[in-house]
Amino acid sequence: KLPPPFNEQNLHYAKSSPERQKLESALKELRSQVPVSVPTLRNGQSIASESSQSQLSQIMPAEHASVLAKYTPATKEDVSAAIEAALKAKQEWVDMPFFDRAAIFLRAAELVSSKYRFELMAATMLGQGKNAWQAEIDAAAETADFYRFNVAGAQEIYEKQPTINAPGHAGRIDWRPLEGFVYAVSPFNFTAIGANLVSGPALLGNVVVWKPAPSAMYASHLIYKILLEAGLPPNVIQMVNGDAQMITDTVFDHPEFSGFNFTGSSDVFRSLWFKAAEGVQSKKYRDFPRMVAETSGKNFHVVHSSADISNAVKHTMRASFEYSGQKCSACSRIYLPKSRASEFLDELKQHLKETKMGDPEDFANFLGPVINKPAFDRITSVIKKAKEDSRLELIAGGSFDDSKGYYVEPAVYVTNTLDHDLFDKELFGPVLVAYVYDDAEYESVLTQLDKQGGGFALTGAVFANEPAAIRKAEDKLRYAAGNFYTNCKTTGAVIGQQTFGGGRGSGTNDKAGSSDSLKRWTSPRTLKEEF
Ligand code: ALA
Repeated sequence: KLPPPFNEQNLHYAKSSPERQKLESALKELRSQVPVSVPTLRNGQSIASESSQSQLSQIMPAEHASVLAKYTPATKEDVSAAIEAALKAKQEWVDMPFFDRAAIFLRAAELVSSKYRFELMAATMLGQGKNAWQAEIDAAAETADFYRFNVAGAQEIYEKQPTINAPGHAGRIDWRPLEGFVYAVSPFNFTAIGANLVSGPALLGNVVVWKPAPSAMYASHLIYKILLEAGLPPNVIQMVNGDAQMITDTVFDHPEFSGFNFTGSSDVFRSLWFKAAEGVQSKKYRDFPRMVAETSGKNFHVVHSSADISNAVKHTMRASFEYSGQKCSACSRIYLPKSRASEFLDELKQHLKETKMGDPEDFANFLGPVINKPAFDRITSVIKKAKEDSRLELIAGGSFDDSKGYYVEPAVYVTNTLDHDLFDKELFGPVLVAYVYDDAEYESVLTQLDKQGGGFALTGAVFANEPAAIRKAEDKLRYAAGNFYTNCKTTGAVIGQQTFGGGRGSGTNDKAGSSDSLKRWTSPRTLKEEF
């Protein structure tokens, strides 16, 4: 019998606490080893083509002169070999009883929770620029949670059988995995997402080819190593690193490509959906591939005149600026009632004044760098353009500095027009735009807000104390967010408590961390036997 799932208990890293000391040692240890090498593994062994000339680097965003990890990009032949090795491993994996497969991921959860917690966090802090708390809730807690709740979700699926069997016949559902292989592509911003994108399909008996984001290379490699240590047969999940276009082309050209598990940008997902459709049209694949994605967002907070303003400010600070706004769930637009706008903005300014930005290893810092130069350039070009934009008033921030790391100070703009890119285009950085509306126009603002957001619908929140205002927002914004929160921020969904995902341009809304999304990795067979 499998144990019931539970959420990993968060550690808090208070000064002189044992966990703080352990994390500091892990950071020191990792620093003493950099650049670490990320080998390409096949059947648990490092494969040859590792010449140092062709190696790529994962840099540290907080100090871009330092390289955290080096890895050799896979060749097309390596990717094809990875697919074939995974397919060869399939039958044995499918034949393994579910309880044995589940035990591997439960063991992995324990390894993440204990033996590797601080090493994984250190990799996430140095490689992805997270501070200790952000690394704790991601690499440690959410990774373990995904494993435990995916096991429970998979068990729920296997237990689902017909409830009625008329006399003389027996029916059952054979929860088969997909027939070919699954391709998983994970983003830089959550170490846990990579763990989830591979563990879900694998738990249901699929084999997976995994391409992690280059900026999360080392933490992803650790995730993979931990799974192998937990007992995962080495060929079941294949990690391939290197040129995204080549890897994806090779995968999407394969006749056994059966499913795509993706977290990343909407534009990439759109183009890959199209590519899959071309393969379907030309009958390249045996199956219609499953396309599952959680993509971009332009998430919102809407504040009603009855709101507790201090609470709304506190939550907005965290939703918009934690991890420099680089969560798909981050809030980047806010709607404020005229009667309370200055109170809100004054308090927000005060918080920002007290907010520290800098080295993520320093526990005093609330936010660190953005991930890399393209991100820094993209965000700062918008901030530079905003300086000339008479429709925007800069309330706070607006400076940036990439002399050592990719630092962007949180920027807040106020505007009285809704006709602005800042309300529609995802920026993925610490930039918030506020629109001030007449209190009496609350309802029409909700209507407008629903139409805006660049066609995205991931997360949203309303802050109000009047029940009627809350109900109004829930009704009017029915499809504007897959995760809708009342009097709390748009970020920080907890596995098993708030399943996560959005619709419209934000993805297929399959709800990470639930049996709903896991079911996509099955191809159920209905059986009936008469006697
Ligand atoms: N699941 C993450 C959150 O809710 C992205 O913030």
